Amino acid sequence: MIPFAFKKSLSVGGFFTVKHLNKVGSTNDYLKTLSPSQQKEGFCVVADEQTGGKGRLGRKFCSPKGGLYFSILLKPVAQDVLDKLTLIAAIAAVDAIREVCKDDASIKWVNDVYIGGKKCSGILSETTENLKGFAIVGIGVNIGNVVDESVKDIACGVTNQGKNTRWELLTAILLKFKELYLDFDAQKIVESYKNRCSTIGKTVKVLENDGGEYTAKAVDIDSDGHLIVLQESGKTQVLCSGEVKIIF
Ligand code: BTN
Repeated sequence: MIPFAFKKSLSVGGFFTVKHLNKVGSTNDYLKTLSPSQQKEGFCVVADEQTGGKGRLGRKFCSPKGGLYFSILLKPVAQDVLDKLTLIAAIAAVDAIREVCKDDASIKWVNDVYIGGKKCSGILSETTENLKGFAIVGIGVNIGNVVDESVKDIACGVTNQGKNTRWELLTAILLKFKELYLDFDAQKIVESYKNRCSTIGKTVKVLENDGGEYTAKAVDIDSDGHLIVLQESGKTQVLCSGEVKIIF
């Protein structure tokens, strides 16, 4: 078994080159500072701890020591691939958590992984001007009881199956990601995402960008990965981004 901490970079699946850091501000931001010679598709940085972990919508992602925090550098060949990176990451994370940790994980639209009503993992995909044509996909997973006190009511950790869980989870996510990314099939990705998405069928509170909110029923995911909700008035809305809160 390969120990999690390693001095040199390791290759995973012949596509990823994984570099390990003890502590970093944000693994996503770290990738943005790479020199041109380091800018290679599949470069992955994993940290034991982040001091400035970032979430979507400008939020903070609590990243205490002991969780799994990593980012990968990708050069999608087409806009459709770029658009589906978060979906691919969510499928890979759910499948790996189910397999390695034996937890009943599912996707909460759009980029969260939940176990029993609490968030155990989040995904942040970014593109950047500096790294032309590259995209960054960052994934954070809470492990065991490594959950910040401030989010204990809404967050949980995946089951720690032993001292190698972090490494096994990282490699399982990367290998599943690689498969979906390199054998890209948009229809298959949306189908797989839908099958793992526990938001469908739930009554949700839709939080709008302008601060407004309304209650609706989540009914489907469309071919772009957008969430289709049915308002109480009978009107259908397609949500491209943003946030929903599960009511029941
Ligand atoms: C979210 O929950 O809104 C997304 C959270 C994404 C967290 C991961 S941890 C690794 C990478 N580095 C970051 O700063 N964020 C992502």
